[in-house]
Amino acid sequence: MTTSQDLLKKLEQKSQEALQGGGADRIQKQHESGKLSARERIAKLMDPGTFVELDRFKAHRCTDFGMADQKILGDSVVTGYGLVNGRQTFVFSQDFTVFGGSLSLAHAEKICKVMEMAQRMGAPLVGLCDSGGARIQEGVMSLAGYADIFLRNVMASGVIPQITAIMGPCAGGSVYSPALTDWIFMVEQTSSMFITGPEVIKAVTREVVTKEDLGGAMAHNEISGVAHFASPDDAACILKIRELMSFLPQNNMEDAPRTPCTDDPGRRDLKLRDVVPADPNKPYDIRDIIRSNVDDGYFFEAHEHFAKNIVVGFARFDGASVGIIANQPSVMAGCLDANASMKGARFVRFCDAFNIPLVIYEDVPGFLPGINQEHGGIIKHGAKLIYAFCEATVPRLTLITRKAYGGAYCVMSSKHIRGDINIAYPTAEIAVMGADGAVNIIFRKEIKSATDAAAEKQRLVDDYRDKFANPYKAAEFGYIDDVIDPADTRPQIIQALKMLKTKRDTNPPKKHGNIPL
Ligand code: HXC
Repeated sequence: MTTSQDLLKKLEQKSQEALQGGGADRIQKQHESGKLSARERIAKLMDPGTFVELDRFKAHRCTDFGMADQKILGDSVVTGYGLVNGRQTFVFSQDFTVFGGSLSLAHAEKICKVMEMAQRMGAPLVGLCDSGGARIQEGVMSLAGYADIFLRNVMASGVIPQITAIMGPCAGGSVYSPALTDWIFMVEQTSSMFITGPEVIKAVTREVVTKEDLGGAMAHNEISGVAHFASPDDAACILKIRELMSFLPQNNMEDAPRTPCTDDPGRRDLKLRDVVPADPNKPYDIRDIIRSNVDDGYFFEAHEHFAKNIVVGFARFDGASVGIIANQPSVMAGCLDANASMKGARFVRFCDAFNIPLVIYEDVPGFLPGINQEHGGIIKHGAKLIYAFCEATVPRLTLITRKAYGGAYCVMSSKHIRGDINIAYPTAEIAVMGADGAVNIIFRKEIKSATDAAAEKQRLVDDYRDKFANPYKAAEFGYIDDVIDPADTRPQIIQALKMLKTKRDTNPPKKHGNIPL
């Protein structure tokens, strides 16, 4: 007769088996290649001792190619739940030591289970990816598994934050689950993402490229913009995920968490009076103003290597989480181009979906001129940013530090597109265009016929600047709520955000809008 001790022994045996994954040798190989194992990654992500594993005895059901004899408990993914920064989080972590982390139907079912639970429980989902893609031996079953995951990614989009870390290979159609999530982290040197790898590219187009140059962390952080964060190793990557999550709410029905604030909400900064250069063509780093304003000078920048002419990220004002989006005058004078518009639009929509108020810093001379931009679709991409701001119902505060020219003035959360509070520094210039360009167009004849053309032009430029290149005309119309002393920026923003806390706004009922994709 089987005793309870026998049963417990069997459980212990099975548990040990499930913990082994692909075995000690393969785990060592994983370490030698600079990667942590699937379980080690989860242990770093979750608060100590909080991880609960699910489906650790689940195995693949493939019988072809001798697979019936090669069942490994848990198959090639570890799934479960636990706490991150004390808050419920669901996770899956692909195990490269088991069939190269490839996705069997059983693997997909395990992922789908935690995705559904995360959505039902209103908690974020973190996916740690390290996989050779579709389990070749399973054929279409594996493809079905991917499609099941894609569907759940889309259903959960805008309901719970979805975060992906690419920590090994991610090739073929399997890149699309990460691409459907909100944030993609990549590890330098050990991770890659591509639809077709270097070999296929060489065969088809004769182009020669390394894996890293094609789809490594920096290729996707800097060039394609597919990924939002790059880290030197697994541990740093996971730490960054935890950091990002500290700014986010659990789901779309909750507010972002507040943290105790020791930085004086009334803190003034006299240095800000001189931060914007008197010469309108001189660059400065907008992040200097942001860091001066936010709690403890702590700005968590996202997507920092891509489209550097716009800056996005998270920070706190008096302990409350906010999304920051800022033109960057030190890169391309802060012009909006196609990439910056897409980067900004995606960020605005994420914050709006998850009730994170937006603080916008504006210094923008306009949309970037150029044949590349026009033919590259600046019209449709710029429209994305307009669309995103127009539909956003979260509290929005815009601070114009210097230029707010032309269409870009309208776009950057102006009053006209439901900006809640719009303030400006005395250095702000709110106009159709810069003084030089404007004078050249409207006074062309006068300048041409003047005896001293240069002196006449300068007089006209000075006159134009006096009349239009300031914030007071816009303030006269109420398009700007106030012109402020830069030293008071932090207290002014905090007061406004406090007032906006109870904001309620809606959009007309519709199935969904048609954002210009
Ligand atoms: C089954 C796989 C596998 C796969 C790797 N393995 N990929 N088993 N299906 N897709 C197994 C290997 O046989 C090996 O088993 C172990 O995993 C480790 O693989 P290695 O090749 O030894 O590792 P490495 O040299 O590091 O190379 C890793 C790799 C390479 C770059 C991922 O294995 C590779 O190119 N795999 C195939 C990738 C691929 O073409 N996948 C299909 C993509 S298309 P042993 O027993 O020797 O340890 C796709 C469609 C998705 O995914 C569609 C969604 C819509």
